[in-house]
Amino acid sequence: MLAVTARAHTNIALIKYWGKADSELMLPANSSVSMTLDQFYTETTVTFDADATADSFVLDGVRQDFLATTKITRFLDIVRALANTASFAHVESVNHVPTAAGLASSASAFAALALAASTAAGLNLTQQELTRLARRGSGSASRSINGGFVIWHRGHDDASSFAEPVQVNPNLNLRMLAVVLDHRQKRVSSRQGMAETVATSPYFPAWADAAEAASHAMVRALTGSDFAEIGAMVERSALMMHATTLAANPPFTYFQPETLATLQLVQDMRAKGLPVYATMDAGPNVKVLTTADAVLQVQDQLAAALNAPITVCAPGPDAQIIKEEEV
Ligand code: PMV
Repeated sequence: MLAVTARAHTNIALIKYWGKADSELMLPANSSVSMTLDQFYTETTVTFDADATADSFVLDGVRQDFLATTKITRFLDIVRALANTASFAHVESVNHVPTAAGLASSASAFAALALAASTAAGLNLTQQELTRLARRGSGSASRSINGGFVIWHRGHDDASSFAEPVQVNPNLNLRMLAVVLDHRQKRVSSRQGMAETVATSPYFPAWADAAEAASHAMVRALTGSDFAEIGAMVERSALMMHATTLAANPPFTYFQPETLATLQLVQDMRAKGLPVYATMDAGPNVKVLTTADAVLQVQDQLAAALNAPITVCAPGPDAQIIKEEEV
């Protein structure tokens, strides 16, 4: 049997994906743009076994229960259909990401699974096909197949909803600091939060239109050299996304008191002249966008004000196969 191990890095959206147009095919309501992070990744090994009677899933050394394994099985069913095989698989993952704390472990997880499983099943998918496959596991995973900066085109069907790298001006030298304010599992999953927002928030249609336009504006801005323009768009996209949840019925928010305190801190640092902008996902943690020139100063000031682990990230690499062996 062939055991294939792939590594994929997390990404943080500069322009957020929030809301599905089709939850079966995982088509988003809007395009989104992200930066892949070098510091956080998932490594996943997949082995198809003709003698196995079910899929098995081990995460960080712990055999997972039926519910967690079912998510993997649903994804592997897509791979099995593409590869025309009925074999079950052993899946073993190690997460080098704080799980489910708004640091997008699902993105690196499904990107690594898509690459490892498709390779182990003998499929030879292109990068673009891989982004479409990863999308079926978790939308944001489509953006973790490529390193650097990525746009996920919303598309209108399975073939047109894919991700690809975008050009970035190397002089921008962007850095992202991940501030882990709370490492517990989030209370409302992104899947549930999106579904409630789409169904009940009157702000949702306005969000989807604005986010689509912002994605294309961001692609243009990344080719330029105006960091403040990019940063302002990043912070605004996050706050607009979170506004949709506050307008849902019933309303909800991912913010904790520390989230707002950190956002305020970032805005104060900016008022004093530092190039810093904040972004938040479906959890309480804050990520801070800055430049390589300012990153040490930013890290020092955040560390002095907050009692929270801070990780400095540069743009990360493409998802890749790191091992293939007969077992
Ligand atoms: O694809 P998911 O379920 O990981 O959703 C990601 C949603 C956000 O992280 C909030 C935004 C984004 O574009 O990554």
